[in-house]
Amino acid sequence: MGDVLVSEAVAGREMDALKSSFDVTYEPELFNNPQRLKEILPDYRALIVRNQTQVNAELIAAGRHLLVIGRAGVGLDNVDHEAASDAGIVVTFAPEQNSISVAELALGLMLSLARMIPAADRSTKSGGWDRKRFTGTELFGKTLGIVGLGRIGFLTAMRARAFGMDVLVHDAHVNPDAFTVAETRATLVGLAELLKRSDFVSVHVPETPDTINLFNDERFALMKPTALFINTSRGKVVDEDALVRALRDRKIAGAALDVRATEPPDAGPLAEMDNVILTPHVAAFTEEGQARVVTCVCRDVAAVLRGDSARNYFNFARPRRSA
Ligand code: MLT
Repeated sequence: MGDVLVSEAVAGREMDALKSSFDVTYEPELFNNPQRLKEILPDYRALIVRNQTQVNAELIAAGRHLLVIGRAGVGLDNVDHEAASDAGIVVTFAPEQNSISVAELALGLMLSLARMIPAADRSTKSGGWDRKRFTGTELFGKTLGIVGLGRIGFLTAMRARAFGMDVLVHDAHVNPDAFTVAETRATLVGLAELLKRSDFVSVHVPETPDTINLFNDERFALMKPTALFINTSRGKVVDEDALVRALRDRKIAGAALDVRATEPPDAGPLAEMDNVILTPHVAAFTEEGQARVVTCVCRDVAAVLRGDSARNYFNFARPRRSA
């Protein structure tokens, strides 16, 4: 029996260390072949994934000897953690290791939208010198609406304050006396009020049954016609057809999406729009962020395999069953 099966690209120094201590099978494209994954999983005690391997109840049941599933990232929408808990398997993840990277991309996308940087770049490289067309807006003095004040929402709000922005926050799970509210000097409001008052809306919620299609026709209709919308969280939080309608009907002025409802997405109207910026789910992809994530997941998987406790566990620190 092998020790660890890695079904997506999770590389770095700590992965090399894991390979030198355990029997690791590294197949970074395996997520594309769920049938083969299911066939070989019974031979392993640990599985390491990113967000493309669908770790559903069926796969978990196939992992008869699994003790631990390591998710190299924060989102657990591709891991059925309840099925893992029922089976006594530890789920470890990287709850904050890429948060700075994501917050920095959110700010980068805000600036890119406000100053039309990608469009100005394309125009200049094709021989243009159209300064008036690229008259943008400042972030200073504008209102940023943050939907979801977890770690990433908090770091985004702190950076927005440094730009002189006012911050509104909607998060049903955050108390008005939370330190994150005090520290960001944000005002907690209902979602409708946030959408009506914000010049920029940045989304930082996990994908759950409550957040799927949170941004729909009704919600986009509440926003200012000058508003710019940024999503670095999960693609399914946005009804993309509704977003296309909102942009076409000038209900909002522009959008930047790092995440899509289906990844990779089919070509569609969003890719044709000049006031839309698209990036391929890279918010967490910085050298620093990835080094932290890989270190975190590899160390925790190694700890569980050695019989120690994981530090960053989603359900429980040690497996409730033996291999
Ligand atoms: C995360 O959930 O950590 C990021 O979205 C990156 C990823 O899914 O791997």
